[in-house]
Amino acid sequence: MEDNNNVMKVNLRVWRQSGPKEKGGFVTYKDVETTPDTSFLETLDILNERLINEDHQEPIAFDHDCREGICGMCSLYINGHPHGPAVGATTCQLYMRRFEDGETITVEPWRSAAFPVIKDLIVDRNAFDKIQQAGGYVSFNCGGAQDANDLPISKVAADEAMDSATCIGCGACVAACKNGSAMLFVSAKVSQFALLPQGQVEADRRVRAMVARMDELGFGNCTNTGACSAECPKQIKLYNIGRMNRQFIAAKCKE
Ligand code: FES
Repeated sequence: MEDNNNVMKVNLRVWRQSGPKEKGGFVTYKDVETTPDTSFLETLDILNERLINEDHQEPIAFDHDCREGICGMCSLYINGHPHGPAVGATTCQLYMRRFEDGETITVEPWRSAAFPVIKDLIVDRNAFDKIQQAGGYVSFNCGGAQDANDLPISKVAADEAMDSATCIGCGACVAACKNGSAMLFVSAKVSQFALLPQGQVEADRRVRAMVARMDELGFGNCTNTGACSAECPKQIKLYNIGRMNRQFIAAKCKE
């Protein structure tokens, strides 16, 4: 820490678990030195350097990749909130100025039967990939690239489809939901196609397949608490779930 006036210390109470079948528990690491302008993941990096170089202990395992809010890997439950206290931000976009000097911060992995813990703060989110593989794509041959204005799409539909497509599949919605429901994620992935003409051809098959896969994988049911949308770092709207339900019922009626 170069600027001593800017240094803050926090205590990190972190979930440690050596493997999927091992019993886990909290370990508190006191007086971790950081600064208000250091990101939360960088603070974990600082702690890991201390664990490796000074304490000769195993570092804390946590997921991350882009560190700029795009990939959805940084799935940490911080002080009781997926991705921590900042609204509309992922863990990698969270800075230590959100916390008090001397605060004890509790860090946990996602808690959901469908996302089993692999190690420490890393969970297996393969279930989301399996739902995507069930139908979250367009598979027909639509020929060469068309001119942009060949296929008119209203601004409202384009904007809503784009908003739905901002879902990064981090799993915060599942972690926030008392039922462990994946409805917000699946509905965002259904909506990003359902709103566009290119998505209509396979719409019925897509919604049936993705909902069926979601049910198979052990996610809970939606009871409209809205916690998913409130905690979503991309602020995916709850009405996507209503749209998906209407699509699903209509598709089932055609069977
Ligand atoms: S590390 Fe990619 S979204 Fe946080």
